[in-house]
Amino acid sequence: MEIKSIGIVGAGQMGNGIAHVMALAGYDVILNDINREALDNAMELMTANMDRQVSREKITAEAQQKALARITTTTTLTDLGKADLIIEAATERETVKQAIFDELMPHLQPHTILTSNTSSISITRLASRTDRPEKFMGFHFMNPVPVMQLVELIRGIATDEETFSACKDVVDRLEKTAASAEDFPAFIVNRILMPMINEAVYTLYEGVGSVKSIDSSMKLGANHPMGPLELADFIGLDTCLAIMNVLHDGLADTKYRPCPLLTKYVEAGWLGRKTNRGFYDYR
Ligand code: CAA
Repeated sequence: MEIKSIGIVGAGQMGNGIAHVMALAGYDVILNDINREALDNAMELMTANMDRQVSREKITAEAQQKALARITTTTTLTDLGKADLIIEAATERETVKQAIFDELMPHLQPHTILTSNTSSISITRLASRTDRPEKFMGFHFMNPVPVMQLVELIRGIATDEETFSACKDVVDRLEKTAASAEDFPAFIVNRILMPMINEAVYTLYEGVGSVKSIDSSMKLGANHPMGPLELADFIGLDTCLAIMNVLHDGLADTKYRPCPLLTKYVEAGWLGRKTNRGFYDYR
């Protein structure tokens, strides 16, 4: 099955990155958000990010123009009914994702593949509540999407091979690398990354090191591009906590217990870069 048009739900950090790479790869993109301002901001951000790619000679000005012209935006979710593939990249809350699938379902074409960019919610459970569990899977990008090479492809228990291979073809066309993961809590990347970030927060909580020394230790001592606390701020502390809770609940092992300091920051509304305050102060 050939995919030509892609519907993306959510124009936030992930949704706009996904729209950016899909449009550059030649797909027609319909980008949806409930908020018109979020759509306008996403178009501005994609234009600025592509401007930078043009100035660094990664893409041509013509490719940028064509890509931006391939993107349409809408606040009406059901406009996505004409897409061949839908990638839901809304807030990481199961009830929100569920409501989106419920509203979309009656408007989809029979062949449409439904996917979620969820970083940890069970694909099998999300799929089981749709009319097409065999055409449902996880399509998980990493942030920042235009830069990161990996896409995790997660099969739910009922996902069929045709669906998997159609999504794998899309990843190939993006010139990214797919990692196939089974549907267990937090899949591969976050199963490994989040306990490391959580351990960095414990290291701070127990006074073993300061924010700066923890981050510089991992940058200079383990060659990570960002320290774990800086990365937590970049991802969003609410997202980190939500993923730790999924691991803790889903695997029932105390080694995944979220650090109380991480919980406290989230309760304070210190969510990292997006609120200008997390382990670092961006004000
Ligand atoms: N959008 C588009 N391009 C971007 C970008 C963005 N948001 N941020 C950076 N870039 C580009 C820059 O333009 C630059 O491009 P060139 O190579 O053409 O010059 C390149 O990325 C490198 O950027 P910088 O020179 O500004 O900065 P850097 O070298 O410090 O790299 C970084 C920035 C790529 C973000 C790097 O710090 C990094 O790799 N950090 C780790 C990111 C990471 O681990 N992401 C995964 C998070 S986990 C996840 O996403 C899963 C989940 O579910 C939570």
